[in-house]
Amino acid sequence: MMPDVENERLQIPQIAAERADAAPASVPDAPALEATTKPDVKRGRSIVVTSGKGGVGKTTTTANLGTALADAGCSVVVVDADVGLRNLDVVLGLENRVSKHLLDVIEGKCTLDEALVRDRIRRNLQLLPAAQNREKDDVPEDKMAELMGQLRERFDFVLIDCPAGIEQGFRNAVIGANEAVVVTTPEVSAVRDADRIVGLLPQEIVIKLVVNRVRPAMVRKGTMMSVADVNAILRLDLIGVVPDEREIIIATNRGTPVIDIEGSETGAAFRRIARRLLGEEIPIPAFEDKGSFFTRFMTTLGVGRS
Ligand SMILES: Nc1ncnc2c1ncn2[C@@H]1O[C@H](COP(=O)(O)OP(=O)(O)O)[C@@H](O)[C@H]1O
Ligand SMILES: [Mg+2]
Repeated sequence: MMPDVENERLQIPQIAAERADAAPASVPDAPALEATTKPDVKRGRSIVVTSGKGGVGKTTTTANLGTALADAGCSVVVVDADVGLRNLDVVLGLENRVSKHLLDVIEGKCTLDEALVRDRIRRNLQLLPAAQNREKDDVPEDKMAELMGQLRERFDFVLIDCPAGIEQGFRNAVIGANEAVVVTTPEVSAVRDADRIVGLLPQEIVIKLVVNRVRPAMVRKGTMMSVADVNAILRLDLIGVVPDEREIIIATNRGTPVIDIEGSETGAAFRRIARRLLGEEIPIPAFEDKGSFFTRFMTTLGVGRS
């Protein structure tokens, strides 16, 4: 018998294929994208990519949505708000070009333009790096809000890569955002932390959910929570489901976003999420709900809202 992981790899394209009868993503009424023209988006959408738990795919999501939105013709800045642990630059392959960072701008040591690093391929994508040798508490909330305001005036999209946890780093990452993409994996601990984070987001923020690292074969076997299980607890507006794929590791090691890896279902999933953010109605592949065991389990743990 083939090892499980091979089975899953083979299953991914099948599951990720768009189903004509699947429910459309619930996105607000926005004009559909013209393939050849710049999308009619409002400037200054700032979206924090957050999760509570570390290692669930915030940085991967920020990098891939940033590049996909840039490919759609939008001007994008990705902000590494994970002060002390910066790695958005590595995922984007820009680490050798980083010299100044977010705190230098806030402390007046350099201008915003001096800190921004332009992507080598997508010239409409820029990175605002985080300081690696500083503490999250070093960033004052009011200064961060001011900086985010400046970025919103200059870019169509400001994507903020949030640190794990609920402390000052989280508050700083959220302060300049008017939308949030909550990332979780189908694991009890990740869903529980996502639930906690949702409760801490300001009321006025528009929240969307990405379920990352889904393994369809395990979902079918009932050994992994299904997307329906996850969202029975979180009850958020689902904007994407991203399969677990080894190509991500290859892509990350190369400093290439996975959306650039040909044939990657994970890359395709991120591209669809970017299009949904732009208002396109693209169905989200449905995953069979076989793991209702997990829903009961989480309810027993007292997680989820009614
Ligand atoms: N869909 C996926 N499939 C496989 N590996 C993934 C996927 N998403 C993220 N990863 C891997 O998981 C690890 C954590 O991802 P990362 O984006 O750094 O998480 P976070 O920013 O939330 O800490 C990385 O090694 C990344 O390559
Ligand atoms: Mg990260």
